[in-house]
Amino acid sequence: MIVVRDLSFAYPGGHPVLQGIDLELAAGELVVLTGPNGCGKTTLARHLNGLLLPQQGTVLVDDLPTSQAEVRRLVGMVFQEPESQIVAPVVEEDVAFGLENLGLPREEMRQRVEWTLERLDLTGVRRSEPHLLSGGQKQRLALASVLAMKPRYLVLDEPTTMLDPWSRREVLELLGDLRRTEGIAIVLVTHRLEEALEADRVVVLADGRVRFQGSPATLFGQLELLTELGLELPDLVRLVAHLRDQGFDPPMEECQLTEWVLGQ
Ligand SMILES: Nc1ncnc2c1ncn2[C@@H]1O[C@H](COP(=O)(O)OP(=O)(O)OP(=O)(O)O)[C@@H](O)[C@H]1O
Ligand SMILES: [Mg+2]
Repeated sequence: MIVVRDLSFAYPGGHPVLQGIDLELAAGELVVLTGPNGCGKTTLARHLNGLLLPQQGTVLVDDLPTSQAEVRRLVGMVFQEPESQIVAPVVEEDVAFGLENLGLPREEMRQRVEWTLERLDLTGVRRSEPHLLSGGQKQRLALASVLAMKPRYLVLDEPTTMLDPWSRREVLELLGDLRRTEGIAIVLVTHRLEEALEADRVVVLADGRVRFQGSPATLFGQLELLTELGLELPDLVRLVAHLRDQGFDPPMEECQLTEWVLGQ
């Protein structure tokens, strides 16, 4: 479990970026962290694996303070800019890189690299130079290299910004899978509220404070708050709301909605 208590933080010489944040993340949970540009999402995300340390309050990962090196292994982090995370000259070496330090048997290392390349659809470019990959492939590579280490928690900072809708859906489905099959808990930082549809909980930050914390359905009902913060309702939610206004009773889940529409 990750437990954040009364966390406050300011960059040197700057105004407070995080103010009294309380947050918990349990095993296997998917929490979406959202809010307007500059509200402190990345700063909070960096506190979850010890890249930044609290100036006030505490962040504990499985009861360990984030100053402990072990925390970096427990919490995998995928950054907003994939380039900053790529370290090796060849794709498959990049995926293997973090594993070298874990002291795993050779065979297990090989299997993990294969599994991850396969899951992230990178097998075809495994011998390519990372800087020649497309933006979307780089994003998948950054995710692959973190995933290969089998972290218990995964923090992803806008991991789908460069992906086309197809790959975006695939990455989100993969995250859902990982949660179910490996019990990995996920914090997904995004400004796309449609990515919050599948979340157990949505946390909305504004000006460094938690402005909302609850289910996606509850958030989508708070139109005033969303408008105030400049957050847009997902098209799907708007469509379903419109249909309900018209006296229909469509399901909210995307795949079921398609079937429902076809059945009308
Ligand atoms: N390294 C830094 N040094 C000084 N100030 C910073 C630094 N990084 C971020 N800030 C400031 O802290 C505030 C929060 O930034 P942060 O990157 O956490 O926001 P964000 O919610 O992730 O924004 P975005 O949606 O644009 O990614 C901003 O005012 C930003 O200018
Ligand atoms: Mg950010």
